Amino acid sequence: MRRAVYPGSFDPLTLGHLDIIIRAAKNFDELVVAVVRNPSKTPLFTIEERMEIIKDATKDISNIKIDHFEGLLTHYVESINAEIIVKGLRAITDFEYEFQMALMNRKLNENIDTMFLMTRNKYSYLSSSMVKEVYRLGGDVSCLVTDFVVEKLGEKIQQVKNS
Ligand code: PNS
Repeated sequence: MRRAVYPGSFDPLTLGHLDIIIRAAKNFDELVVAVVRNPSKTPLFTIEERMEIIKDATKDISNIKIDHFEGLLTHYVESINAEIIVKGLRAITDFEYEFQMALMNRKLNENIDTMFLMTRNKYSYLSSSMVKEVYRLGGDVSCLVTDFVVEKLGEKIQQVKNS
């Protein structure tokens, strides 16, 4: 079984992430989309909400598994017997950081390789942070995320306002 891991914050999933998931899933028996729990960040969505969003967006893809992890990515990849980390590359600015992480991950476990998929041009500017900011400021994000994410963003912003 050729299993790969696509890790990320996915706070929230964008159409750029989804495009990488769809394309990567075609190349492996199983693609595990793994949401990171990063104690030093304050995400808008909980791990459960982020996983629910990914589950909804990928319901028609049979070889996707959704999971979460904390700590070193290489430890997680080993623990589920995967060999490949999948990453999306948007722009040259992503490259240096991703290159560093790929080399560090290989240093930590030389059996784990990172494969990069280039983003589609139309998503090359897209990030979760930008989606959140545009939504907060009243912009239309419906062409950047799934309808379910638009719905969840509405609920979340309302919750934040009420609290
Ligand atoms: O979507 P993001 O926030 O760009 O994802 C970053 C992620 C989760 C891939 C990265 O932060 C990560 O691998 N975190 C796990 C901690 C770890 O293994 N750090 C060492 C990597 S060099």
